[in-house]
Amino acid sequence: MGTDSTGFILDTAWLSLCRIGIRSIDADHQDIHDRIARLHEACAARRFADCRELMIGLVSAVERHFRREEAQFSRVPYPNARHHADHHRHLLNRLTAATAALADPSRLPDHILDGIDVFASVLMTDHVALDMELRAYLTSDD
Ligand SMILES: [Fe+2]
Ligand SMILES: [Fe+2]
Repeated sequence: MGTDSTGFILDTAWLSLCRIGIRSIDADHQDIHDRIARLHEACAARRFADCRELMIGLVSAVERHFRREEAQFSRVPYPNARHHADHHRHLLNRLTAATAALADPSRLPDHILDGIDVFASVLMTDHVALDMELRAYLTSDD
C-alpha cells in the first residue's frame, strides 16, 4: 500500500548520507523530498486542490533539478551520462502522467497516492544510485 512505501522516502536519513557535494543539487534533493512529503500529506487529507497545485510545483522542481544535474555531465568525463539522462526523462514522463491523472476527479485519491509512492521510490534510485555515481566524477562545489 501507498503509505508503507512512502514511509521510505519520508525517512530523511538518506538525504544526509547521499550528498553529492554540489550545494544547489543537494538543496534540490531536499526541496524535492519536502515537496513529495507535502504532496503526500495533502492527498492523504484529501485536499485535492492542494494536491494539484503541489503536483504542478513538483514537476517544475524536478524538471529544473534534472536540467541542473545534467549540466554537470559535460563538465567531467562521466561515462553514464546517457543512461542517467534517460532515467531522468523516464521519471519526468511518469510524473507528468501522474499530474495528468490528477485532473481526472474519478481517479482521486488512492490511485494518485499509489502513483506518488511509485514515483518517490523510483526517484530514490536516481538519488541513491545514479547521483551518487556521478559524485565520484565531480571534483568541485559550486
Ligand atoms: Fe538528483
Ligand atoms: Fe539524477
